[in-house]
Amino acid sequence: MLILGIETSCDETSIAVVSDGRDILSNVTASSLHLHKRYGGVVPEIACRHHTELINIVLRKALQKAKVSLRDIDAVSVTEGPGLVGALLIGISMAKALSYSLKVPLIGVNHLHAHLYSAMMNAGPPELPAAGLVVSGGHTCLVYIERVDKIELLGQTRDDACGEAFDKVAKIMKLGFPGGPIIEKKAHAGDPGRIKFPRTSLEKDTLDFSFSGIKTAVLYYVRDLEKEGSRIPAADICAGFQEAMVEMLLGKTEPACRKKGVKTLLVGGGVSANALLRSRLKLMGESLGMEVFFPPKGMSMDNAAMVAGLGYHFYKNGKFSGYRLTAEPNLNFFKKF
Ligand code: KG4
Ligand code: ZN
Repeated sequence: MLILGIETSCDETSIAVVSDGRDILSNVTASSLHLHKRYGGVVPEIACRHHTELINIVLRKALQKAKVSLRDIDAVSVTEGPGLVGALLIGISMAKALSYSLKVPLIGVNHLHAHLYSAMMNAGPPELPAAGLVVSGGHTCLVYIERVDKIELLGQTRDDACGEAFDKVAKIMKLGFPGGPIIEKKAHAGDPGRIKFPRTSLEKDTLDFSFSGIKTAVLYYVRDLEKEGSRIPAADICAGFQEAMVEMLLGKTEPACRKKGVKTLLVGGGVSANALLRSRLKLMGESLGMEVFFPPKGMSMDNAAMVAGLGYHFYKNGKFSGYRLTAEPNLNFFKKF
């Protein structure tokens, strides 16, 4: 069963061909990231222009690389949200056109759900039910995955997303964009114990997160040093910040896993590329007797293989979308499931 996946929710134009939900025949991505760097964040207009300019080329390359033609495709799966409304509409329009002309089903999928599914594409099929942690640039949430297509929200961030906090802290320190990989690299040379940034402690019984406090703490710390004319210890700040972020993520992920009594944790989204987060979650898994799954290399960031892979399960369960499918910029796990 060949599914063509299309992902255009943010700054990546990505198209993939995946067989039976797991075997990635192609996964071609053209990113407009380099065009956004000078603005310190993704500019929707620029992202949309880039999608329209490149989406046909990306489609051709994805088919060529997979050595298939459009006639071989059994269904088209596309990200319907959350994301930038204009950007989503470009992928959805292409998906509708392909589905209609090829007379194959159209399947709209949730971007956050696809991020979690990318962790299922790594090793052998993970044991379900599982807990899931999505850590991306726009979202941070904990979920309970009963089946591949049945998900319940357990907790989410009340303010900044985890990746957003990395991006904002990098901006405060004028390190560049996106902040996550830059902070991770700088942190290697720093001492994580030298600067202890405050951890936000929400109510004990909630599985929600909050990351705006730590971002403000870094802002004041850097401002005070600048006022004094002192040197900014960038590596130590990055190491201390990263340490605090990972601790706060674990602080809610561990109780979520215990509460649900699951044997598996799936982690997805851009921040799941972070090596410290990976190693700490692995350790947590070992101590709880759980297996922890991450996306395969290069698949933590936005990509269409995860969209095609997840689409296969919807296809098998006959969950198709009609041509009324439209962009859902604020789609979350509540609405879809
Ligand atoms: O999932 P993603 O590609 O896009 C969204 O759906 O939002 O995630 C992008 C986010 C950015 O905020 C970026 O700074 C963060 O993922 N990120 C990282 C790392 N690589 C990317 N954060 C921490 N450590 C990393 N190595
Ligand atoms: Zn994403």
